[in-house]
Amino acid sequence: MEKKYCIITGANAGIGKASAIELAKKGFHIVMFCRNKEKAEKARQEIAEQSEHPVDLIICDLASQKSIRQAAKQYTQNYDRVDVLLNNAGFIAKQKEKTEDGIESTLAVNHLGPFLLTNLLFELIQKTPNARVVNVSSEAHKYASFDLDNLELDKGYDNMKDYCLSKLCNIMFTHELAKKLKDTSATTYSLHPGVVASNFQDNTHGFLGAIFSLIRPFMISSEKGASTSVFLATDPGVTKFNGKYFEKKTLKKPKSVAYDDTLCHQLWDRSKKMSNLK
Ligand SMILES: NC(=O)c1ccc[n+]([C@@H]2O[C@H](COP(=O)([O-])OP(=O)(O)OC[C@H]3O[C@@H](n4cnc5c(N)ncnc54)[C@H](OP(=O)(O)O)[C@@H]3O)[C@@H](O)[C@H]2O)c1
Repeated sequence: MEKKYCIITGANAGIGKASAIELAKKGFHIVMFCRNKEKAEKARQEIAEQSEHPVDLIICDLASQKSIRQAAKQYTQNYDRVDVLLNNAGFIAKQKEKTEDGIESTLAVNHLGPFLLTNLLFELIQKTPNARVVNVSSEAHKYASFDLDNLELDKGYDNMKDYCLSKLCNIMFTHELAKKLKDTSATTYSLHPGVVASNFQDNTHGFLGAIFSLIRPFMISSEKGASTSVFLATDPGVTKFNGKYFEKKTLKKPKSVAYDDTLCHQLWDRSKKMSNLK
């Protein structure tokens, strides 16, 4: 049987690491795309030990277009297929800050990063039989308002609003990507993993931080949080739902703007410009 390869961004912690262990146990050769070598090496050993499968690592900081381009190049030079691309990494900026590319950081890491990475691997995705692109979004997208001319929230910045908008962009990106993949055997999905007790809440402060501390005992584990990602990466019956949004392994209706053909197309074009893609 041919070996199957799965790229996971943010595979060194939380939902990404749990997904890596589960998918490695299912026989995928995992290639972790992580920004911090030290943390990622530690997680790599843990994933390999728990799954009893080899795991590779490529350094990729999604806040840097240069780093994403280098990582994609390293992958395409060393691997000839990508069966699953799990765009999992994400974060909430503490305050408004720009990346080295001059882009607001939450939008850059959570939306433009996976957008650019997916596009750079597009040829390989198309070439690999039945490849899947799985994008980890959030129910928080429902609190976002979409304005193509205010994607970086230059007007009315708030770090939570910004996070919610980036997660809405994940679903809109998936909707548009599904159309681009229409004539290939590849499919794509987005999902909400649940409210998961990971490192994620560490960047939330003030009122929201206090709420997260209070509800932490009721949050689900990273392993449970990984279950929909793993389902969408592997379930044979799911391919008829190309471009759709899921929660708890079930189809879920996102905010209506998330499937608006015109806006999704416009977001794609704007993202292309912002990531300097030809
Ligand atoms: N936890 C929840 O309740 C929840 C709910 C809905 C959706 N989500 C989504 O689930 C996904 C995973 O979150 P999690 O809960 O597992 O959080 P987590 O434990 O904080 O893990 C996030 C991962 O993303 C990586 N990451 C952050 N910034 C990055 C960058 N610039 N470049 C590359 N990797 C970067 C982190 O790397 P470092 O370790 O180096 O920081 C880490 O590996 C995110 O997309 C999040 O939006 C989570």
